[in-house]
Amino acid sequence: MPNSSQLGLYIHWPFCLSKCPYCDFNSHVASDIDEEAWHKALVTELHHMAELSDHSAYGRRPLSSVFFGGGTPSLMPTKIMSSLITEAEKLFGFMADIEITAEANPTSVETAKLQGFQQAGVNRVSLGVQSLDDTALSFLGRGHSANEAIKALELSRDLFDRVSIDLIYGLKDQSVADWEGQLSKALSFDLDHLSLYQLTIEPGTQFYSRARKGEVLNLDDDAMADLYLITETQTAAHGLFNYEVSNYARSGAQSRHNLLYWRCQDWLGIGPGAHGRLTQINGRRETVTRRSPQGWLTQIKDKGHGVSESVVDDQEAICEEILMMGLRLSEGVPLSRLSQLAGTSDWPFTSQQIEPLISEAWLSLENDQLIANFEGRLRLNYMLQALLAS
Ligand SMILES: C[S@@+](CC[C@H](N)C(=O)[O-])C[C@H]1O[C@@H](n2cnc3c(N)ncnc32)[C@H](O)[C@@H]1O
Ligand code: SF4
Repeated sequence: MPNSSQLGLYIHWPFCLSKCPYCDFNSHVASDIDEEAWHKALVTELHHMAELSDHSAYGRRPLSSVFFGGGTPSLMPTKIMSSLITEAEKLFGFMADIEITAEANPTSVETAKLQGFQQAGVNRVSLGVQSLDDTALSFLGRGHSANEAIKALELSRDLFDRVSIDLIYGLKDQSVADWEGQLSKALSFDLDHLSLYQLTIEPGTQFYSRARKGEVLNLDDDAMADLYLITETQTAAHGLFNYEVSNYARSGAQSRHNLLYWRCQDWLGIGPGAHGRLTQINGRRETVTRRSPQGWLTQIKDKGHGVSESVVDDQEAICEEILMMGLRLSEGVPLSRLSQLAGTSDWPFTSQQIEPLISEAWLSLENDQLIANFEGRLRLNYMLQALLAS
């Protein structure tokens, strides 16, 4: 079983050059950013989180991962990134094999900053390529071409040992041949990690408003499932395994930081709208910071942190999270995590709830491990509803 005392740090940089029409992440376009104020505020919140971790079940301990996410962290001034890495190491210490990831957009401005990030201590880059086709990139409202993305990818591979790219598939009218072509091109770069997302229409986005007016923007469920199967087959043929619903890696190259979320381990979250989880003697603390960048900045000045919610989850919430997160992983959920984290040896579901899913071969229970099979992962929402219905 993975070591449950691991600790990660998530840092959210909420700014982007423009807002992509499909994106519901906490991302904002701002013309004027007070860099000094942001730098100071992030460091202040980092200190607050270090103190919070002193009261957790495992105390303050060396970090196993740091993740700069967004928004667009590749727009963060290198000086701030570097100072946060230095400060985090001073406050917590780093495990010898720490993974430090930055998400980066492949515009030329950001590509020019990659070397600085490497010097600051980043050792893994997750590049938002999204598509290798210019028409699709313009449909997705991206500010870069496929060629720029490939240049950024090549430079990233020269600078970093570990590089991952994000692609979105299942755009309206996308044919099987088109996706197969893009995927084989992506696989030809011989990366050890790919995040391959089906285009989803999220409430609050521009795509959502357009879809409500009747515009079709993505493929239907059946066509999406066909592309998902092709994705599984093509990546497997290149030695990448589908370790999480949308993530594919060579053995040992999984995103260590994201595994903390899916395995319900501990991480601290700083910056606007960042979430965190800390195991405590009496349960599991969930923290959320204020979502609005200006509101977060103001609260840091007033209170020394931007936390807007800090609650110890009850048993039901913990069980729900363990299942929701763990069933996304091909390794599944060790049921012993339930007793370890939620303090109960009872399963949160009855045999009447689980047996139909097992007999459909969507779910399997091997020793302690509950696993959603490939067919089950296609129906994850349905299965969770069936398992968690009271
Ligand atoms: C934090 S976001 C973006 C990071 C970075 N700013 C970028 O745009 O490349 C992480 C990833 O989620 C994926 N994503 C975001 N919204 C999505 C949606 N509606 N459907 C599918 N994938 C989505 C994109 O592939 C994106 O790279
Ligand atoms: S997809 Fe990335 S660049 Fe586009 S708005 Fe979202 S966070 Fe910003």
